[in-house]
Amino acid sequence: MKISLSPATPEAWSGSVLALGIPQDDPQGLLEAMEQRFNIQLKEWLKQKPFTGKSGDLASLQLLRGDCTTLVLLGLGEAGSIERDSLRMAAAAAARAAQGQGGSLGLLLPWGSVDLIADATAAAEAVRLALYSDLRFRSKPEPSPRPEQVELLGQWPTGLKQTLETVHPICAGVELARELVAAPPNSVTPEELARTAAALAHEHGLELTVLEQSDCEERGMGSYLSVCQGSDMAPKFIHLTYRPSGVAKKRLVLVGKGLTFDSGGYNLKVGAAQIDMMKFDMGGSASVFGAMRSIAELRPAGVEVHMVVAACENMINGSAVHPGDIVTASNGTTIEINNTDAEGRLTLADALVYASKLKPDAIVDLATLTGACVVALGDEIAGLWTPDDALSSDLETAASDAGEGLWRMPMHSSYRKGLKSLLADMKNTGPRPGGSITAALFLKEFVDAGIPWAHIDIAGTVWSDKGRGMNPSGATGYGVRTLVNWVMKQASTAEA
Ligand code: BES
Ligand code: MN
Ligand code: ZN
Repeated sequence: MKISLSPATPEAWSGSVLALGIPQDDPQGLLEAMEQRFNIQLKEWLKQKPFTGKSGDLASLQLLRGDCTTLVLLGLGEAGSIERDSLRMAAAAAARAAQGQGGSLGLLLPWGSVDLIADATAAAEAVRLALYSDLRFRSKPEPSPRPEQVELLGQWPTGLKQTLETVHPICAGVELARELVAAPPNSVTPEELARTAAALAHEHGLELTVLEQSDCEERGMGSYLSVCQGSDMAPKFIHLTYRPSGVAKKRLVLVGKGLTFDSGGYNLKVGAAQIDMMKFDMGGSASVFGAMRSIAELRPAGVEVHMVVAACENMINGSAVHPGDIVTASNGTTIEINNTDAEGRLTLADALVYASKLKPDAIVDLATLTGACVVALGDEIAGLWTPDDALSSDLETAASDAGEGLWRMPMHSSYRKGLKSLLADMKNTGPRPGGSITAALFLKEFVDAGIPWAHIDIAGTVWSDKGRGMNPSGATGYGVRTLVNWVMKQASTAEA
């Protein structure tokens, strides 16, 4: 799909689908202009439709003409209070309305409601991401036609063209994350994740180290390795590195939880625990893979980016970890595994120790870590835990620029006592109330003091049953755009 800029007015543009964002009361008189252009009684027709111009309203009509076959009207609410997210939603709705036909989509929105360049880029991303569909597992894939060309209509500043070039690399990262998450657990295995990393390394010139089980044993990663004891699939500890050309002034590490399936182990997932969905338990790793793909293509200067994923499966057999086992992590901490279903933090513990040894300027981990986070924040907002105010505000800005919901949560240190073990240094789970907070406090034990670190719990946002805006139902690819924004911002401040 080609995305381009067009100075054509809606009166003059020709192509297949013309989509126009109409703020309430239509201050620019677009409806009248369309009445004249197409010689139709648009306003009369709209009176019979549930279209009042409020945000989310949509009306589509066939014109059966050569110069334009379909006109799509998108409500945007009050003209003075249009937010970038409404523009994203409108762009996604326009894309969906154009689905089923090829040709070109012309999109006119009230650009510059927030920031001209950012608005146009966000809309372009929304169009591509909304048109994503996954036919990999159909025996007879029947793709529905999509516009081959998207034209953003408006008077554009020269700087926009360059920014628009980031759209495809960023969306490719999001789509990689979606594909990894959506693929079933007999397809995306730890080995397959390692192969994906090798393909990225090969295509984009990244550095790759994969630690095999014996390497992890040598490094004393007893916490991580305990999780996959009951699985027939070998663990793969994946470390991918992007190095800029020129000097790296900052080193960042992205860590992702990579459970390609989480059965719960002997604390088996039963009842409402949605065991069948636990293929998405590698969502954190999918996001960091996706971000690495985008970063490798965008090639920011001044910043070195590492991705660390301790991939494995949480399964049951006679070798599986027992509830009650005590294991030792690679920093020497002993852990009493009082719940085998709190396995993500066990894998992240050794990943964070490894990440700390890289002596980075910051570590950010993403993980589908706790059901408690889903209860607290639902499926549109991820939880953010960090002791570092500056990192928190950087990530909050990155997420808000990306239109991804993120909310900082407390790290009350007195809750740490919930993790006290009678025998070992700590247990892996505390009491049920505040379960996402104790999970974050558990992780904190494995990050070297002094390294800014943040943990993002994406248990709710990794998947959308109904779909929303630019996310078709299923895997969302949440986190990729936040991470890319954050890394790019770090790069620009590292350069200065
Ligand atoms: N992968 C799950 C978390 C999860 C649950 C993600 C539901 C998405 C939806 C994680 O490994 C887990 O099982 N966590 C337990 C922790 C508990 C045992 C302290 C949970 O949240 O129930
Ligand atoms: Mn679990
Ligand atoms: Zn899990």
